[in-house]
Amino acid sequence: MSTDRQTLLVTGGAGFIGANFVRQRLAQRSDERIVVLDALTYAGNRRNLAGIDPDRCEFVHGDIRDTALVERLLREHGIRTLVHFAAESHVDRSISGPDAFIDANVIGTHSLLKAARTVWLSGSGVPHRFHHVSTDEVYGSLGPHDPPFEETNQYQPNSPYSASKAASDHLVRAYHHTFHLEVTTTNCSNNYGPFQFPEKLIPLMLVNCLHGRPLPIYGDGMNIRDWLHVDDHCRGITLALEKGRPGEVYNIGGENERPNIEIVQRITGAIDAAFAADPSLAPRFPSSPAADGRGCWSLVTYVKDRPGHDRRYAIDPRKAQSELGYRPHETFETGLAKTVAWYLANEPWWRAVMDGSYRDWLEHQYAGR
Ligand code: NAD
Ligand code: DAU
Repeated sequence: MSTDRQTLLVTGGAGFIGANFVRQRLAQRSDERIVVLDALTYAGNRRNLAGIDPDRCEFVHGDIRDTALVERLLREHGIRTLVHFAAESHVDRSISGPDAFIDANVIGTHSLLKAARTVWLSGSGVPHRFHHVSTDEVYGSLGPHDPPFEETNQYQPNSPYSASKAASDHLVRAYHHTFHLEVTTTNCSNNYGPFQFPEKLIPLMLVNCLHGRPLPIYGDGMNIRDWLHVDDHCRGITLALEKGRPGEVYNIGGENERPNIEIVQRITGAIDAAFAADPSLAPRFPSSPAADGRGCWSLVTYVKDRPGHDRRYAIDPRKAQSELGYRPHETFETGLAKTVAWYLANEPWWRAVMDGSYRDWLEHQYAGR
């Protein structure tokens, strides 16, 4: 379908951040349409886009490595803006099976760049923007007193995941430098919020509290991440699309460094408090230690560390602040409270996405720990 309204191509729009971006963007821009291209891996789910007006958001089930498909979508919909989220995103999976990360993150990103170059730069070219969504993990691990990551930091990726994202960042940069593709890249810190697959720290701990399952803390629990509510990441991406200079990189973060153990303390405390305030929760989740007053902290279990586990990430957001006017709206307290409430209210969602194959993977993951 072609239309006069601006249409964006969003890759990975059925995943966690992509789906939040699609929802936020459609709510903010009544004049826009979005085409979502997603392969629906274990992490992608049509449920994440439920309730969205199909006239404004078309879902295409396909792979970003299918360059011909991407070219066709760009042409048929007259698309001039591509926001690229699609990736394999979980560090633990990149350790147990790195190949999928090279395929999706490196080959996949290159396929999109090739399609964008063919469609947007042939002949006299058309105005366009290719926005690449990347991660702070490309900069490696910080020591306790190191300054936060700036855009000029050397790349020192430590996991197959971060190495594959670093490779994709370099390809995006090279397509700008060599072919003049108009690109922007954002490197963001750890996100949390609705629709996050329960393999990442915050939703995994939330769901395990409700099921009464162990809360696995890797190593000593003192690894530090810089947490950002997903809505604030999505706002930063929109600002980069509007105000970002082609060829530039912007670091996006929450200036909110916390050790993992504190995150788990806050989640267990929030679940205990929710059960104390709402008597309907205990019969819904009878296996939770919050249901009988023991408290979810009793589930904490220290397990063997993640191999190559980065110790600390922190973002210096000054460039995004000064050039884009970026500022997070959520504090960690408001963002986490909303997230806990969302997971309590959306039990059918997380039960549906945690199917048998995922549970098998999780059990295999912890078998040796
Ligand atoms: P996610 O794993 O929740 O979702 C990834 C989506 O990409 C899924 O819908 C999946 O089906 C899709 N996908 C994977 N391979 C594909 C392929 N070959 N073709 C088409 N679709 C494919 O990931 P997320 O947490 O939403 O992360 C989105 C992006 O943001 C990633 O590029 C990630 O590196 C980056 N990022 C994530 C975080 C975070 O904290 N989650 C932080 C910074 C950056
Ligand atoms: O920094 C941005 C990155 O954040 C993104 O690029 C990645 O896509 C995203 O997955 C995330 O990577 P992390 O490895 O930091 O996230 P994860 O939620 O897997 O782990 C957060 C921290 O919690 C990390 O120090 C490992 C620890 N952890 C994680 C899990 C799943 C545990 O202690 N126990 C767990 O069960």
